[in-house]
Formats: sequence, structure tokens, C-alpha cells
Amino acid sequence: MNATIAVLAGDGIGQEIVPEAVKALQAIGERFGHRFECRNALMGGCAVDATSVPLPPETLSLAKQSQAVLLGAVGGPKWEGIEYAKRPERALLGIREALGLYANLRPAKLYGPLVDASTLKREVVEDIDILVVRELTGGIYFGKPRGIEKTATGERGINTEVYTTEEIRRIAIVAFDAARKRRRRVTSVDKANVLESSELWRRVVIEVGKSYPDVELSHMYVDNCAMQLVRYPKQFDVIVTTNMFGDILSDEAAMLTGSIGMLPSASIGGTIGLYEPIHGSAPDIAGKNIANPIATIASVGMMLSYTFNLQMEAQLIEQAIVKTLDQGARTKDIFSSGTKLVGTKEMGDLVLANMMKSP
Ligand code: IPM
Ligand code: MG
Repeated sequence: MNATIAVLAGDGIGQEIVPEAVKALQAIGERFGHRFECRNALMGGCAVDATSVPLPPETLSLAKQSQAVLLGAVGGPKWEGIEYAKRPERALLGIREALGLYANLRPAKLYGPLVDASTLKREVVEDIDILVVRELTGGIYFGKPRGIEKTATGERGINTEVYTTEEIRRIAIVAFDAARKRRRRVTSVDKANVLESSELWRRVVIEVGKSYPDVELSHMYVDNCAMQLVRYPKQFDVIVTTNMFGDILSDEAAMLTGSIGMLPSASIGGTIGLYEPIHGSAPDIAGKNIANPIATIASVGMMLSYTFNLQMEAQLIEQAIVKTLDQGARTKDIFSSGTKLVGTKEMGDLVLANMMKSP
């Protein structure tokens, strides 16, 4: 197979973790006879510095000409004060919207060897395997009106939570389809006791659910879900929720697995898939070779599975990650006594070695 991948490393640790993931992708190519042509482009703060916009048109057109996008992370203190339209985060929202990526899949799965890396007790987190399906191109992130306006006494900041029937329906379908390949349970998370947009959300999810009689549907208010995730996370299989709630709950779910540095994501729904770790650019640890590349390497695994339907190749990546953890290698974020502390590059090399070694 021949494919072009747009590689957007972005800012901060993005510059360090993405090369490790690209290494893994190239190794898969060599081993299985695929050709992955990786083309780099600027996005985020580095793009603002070089071109004065966070998502240059060349980057977007490269993405559109590719079969998949691999993204690191964007943002950092350097660009925090600048005008809203030029902030690195706008690039992320812009590319998601431009590529029509309305479904963001964030699997929170605990790798066995990391059971003691979680801040929660072993018996609470053991064996958790949750898929957060986050709506990605609607809700309060994109709703209008928005902005900051002057008033007689000061200013007023406005954002609007909006969901249409169609937006809810299509994300619900993604969640129910995913549940069919898993444990057949969907928890839809909303705030239907307060918000009309949530009232509609719940109604439409129930309607879609009628076509999936084999999938058990339940509903949870977001505050309760935040609590249940730390109380008894094993109750969850697929969680489907809005853009904002999904942003928050997926960070929480990530921590159950030991570190936010472990969670990959796939954004799908358009013709091109985008794959990125769920964590940010972590400017505080950037450039020190201590960031955990596993979430980004695992994102390549999701790319192989979702965009290219290369299940064996995807599994090889997953197995190599588990093997590496089994051997005791740990980046700083998942280090515990009795394990071996390694840097970003070393972790990437070890995963690679395990990929090449396995039968
Ligand atoms: C994420 C991030 C982004 C989001 C930010 C950086 C815009 O937190 O992907 O979860 O809120 O979607
Ligand atoms: Mg987030």
C-alpha cells in the first residue's frame, strides 16, 4: 500500500514525540511492505512565528491531499497573549472543522503493567477499557453568537452551546457502532436537567438507540459522570458526549490509566482521519527528552486501524507498547520505583525494537 501522511508536529513536546511515532510508522512500512510518505508542515505557534497564521493554507491543502494526518500538539506560553484568531489552538479547531472531523475517539485503556501508576487504587482501575466518543465540530466550541462585547458597565463574553438533530444523530451512530464491536453499552452524557441543547441531545440519542436494540443505552448527567469515573470506572464501555464535556471527561479518563501521556485519539467523520495524542504541548517539559511518546505512537496504531484498515499492523504497535512496559521501561510521567527511567527517544527506540523483534 502507498499512502501520504501529513505530519504536523506543532509545538512544545510535539517536536519530540512525533518523530518517535513516525519511526514506528516507517518500521511498519518496512516490515509489511507499505510505503508511507510522510510530509511535514507547520501548524500552531511555530506556524504563527513563520507565517503569522496558526493554520497556513499550505498546511491545510497538504492535509487534504493526504490520506491521514498525524498531529503532535500546539500552543505554549509564548503565544498566549496574542489575538484570539492567531492562537495556536485555533489551528486545531480549524483543521478539525475544515476536514469535517466530527467524531473524536479517545480510548482509555489501562495497560496491565501500569496498574500501579494510577493515582487510584488497583482494584478501581484494573482492567478498565473505556472509549470516549467526543463530538468534535459542534457545541460551545463552535456555536454562535460568540465574542467579547462592550457594555455600559464593562464587557460581556459570550459563547453558545448549539446542537442540531443531525449533529447529534451522526455522533450517536458512531458511538453505537463502536459499542457493537465492544461490550455493547453506551452511556450518553449530558446536562439535560438544565440545558435545552442537552434535552435535544438525549432525545435524539434515544431515537438512534432504537435501531440498536442489542446495545444497552443509559444516560448520565455530566457532573455525575465525572464522579462515577473515579468512583467505579469499570461500569463504562462507550461514553458519548458533547465537545466540551468530552474534552473534560477524556482528560479525567486518561488519568485513570496512569498518565495523560498514554492516550491516543482518532478524529474521524470526514474523508481524512486525524490522529493525535490527547495531551497538549507541555511547554514545561519540552526540549528535555522526558516526554512520553506512547500516546503518539499509539495514535499511529489508531491510524493504521481506522484509516488503512491494517489491523495486524495496528496490533503489532499495541503489543510492542505493552511489551516495552512489561520490560519495565518508563518515562518520567509513569515512573515508579523498581522500573527503569528512560527518555523520549529511548522509549521510542524500545518500542521500535519490540516491533521488529516480535514474530
Ligand atoms: C484537546 C485539547 C483541545 C480541545 C485544545 C488544545 C483546543 O484540549 O484536544 O482535548 O479543547 O479540544
Ligand atoms: Mg483537552
